[in-house]
Amino acid sequence: MTHIFYFFYGFCLCLSLLCALFVVIWNLHWRGGFAWDRSLLHFNWHPVLMVSGLVILYGNAAVVYRIPFTWKQRKLVCKLVHAGMMFVALLLSILGLSAVFDFHRGFNIPHMYSLHSWVGISTVLLFASQWILGSIGFLLPCSPPWMRSFLKPVHIWMGRIILVFSLASCISGINEKLLLTLNGISAALYNALPVEAVFVNFLGILIMAFGMAIFGILFVKKWQRPEDEGPENAYLLLSEDTP
Ligand code: HEM
Repeated sequence: MTHIFYFFYGFCLCLSLLCALFVVIWNLHWRGGFAWDRSLLHFNWHPVLMVSGLVILYGNAAVVYRIPFTWKQRKLVCKLVHAGMMFVALLLSILGLSAVFDFHRGFNIPHMYSLHSWVGISTVLLFASQWILGSIGFLLPCSPPWMRSFLKPVHIWMGRIILVFSLASCISGINEKLLLTLNGISAALYNALPVEAVFVNFLGILIMAFGMAIFGILFVKKWQRPEDEGPENAYLLLSEDTP
């Protein structure tokens, strides 16, 4: 079973790398590269930071507890790695949002008009609340046991919902960007399927495949970390951590 896990996990890592490469190459090769100056190039940070933060890093952080070699480590270490990766994912997504808000300000484009922007902002708000509640509930020694046991299933359920919302935000964002640029300022129309559209549609498929692979890992019960600590200690950061 461990071999199958590592095969699956290796597949997730390959898809992570491919998603990152595709989103960077798209913006370097077809969209002119990157700048932080409220120009058109300022926007290009948005997809790169959102895909790397809310999809790649978030997805990989979600499966940290499933990696069998981490089961020999103290649970405290896993909790810190999980929370730390989620924190970096949150920072990247906040930077990604500030890129698109600054770009809109630079060109006097109204904020929050599209379905993509509504789904996107809800995703980031849910993620920020989840991170704050998770840190208070599972990492602070003063959080009462009843709160931790109430929070755990909610945290797991909400964590999955956020990944679904992230995937939906990326797919809708990619679709909107292609429609806006290829049918607006570019010579090659979207429905003529120029090379850029083929490449970026494929990026969307890679993102969906990555989501499927992460959910595949999350749904296999045998790949859950065996409970090696008492229920009281399981969520406490500052309590003595049993080996
Ligand atoms: C989890 C991922 C994402 C989230 C949470 C997200 C969130 C947002 C938000 C909140 C806005 C509104 C900004 C404003 O009104 O000033 C926005 C705008 C935009 N995003 Fe994303 N985004 C994500 C991924 C992407 C991706 C991958 C693309 C692909 C290029 C993209 C393309 C766009 C475009 C074209 C706009 C400007 C038009 C609009 O406001 O809808 N987004 N995004």
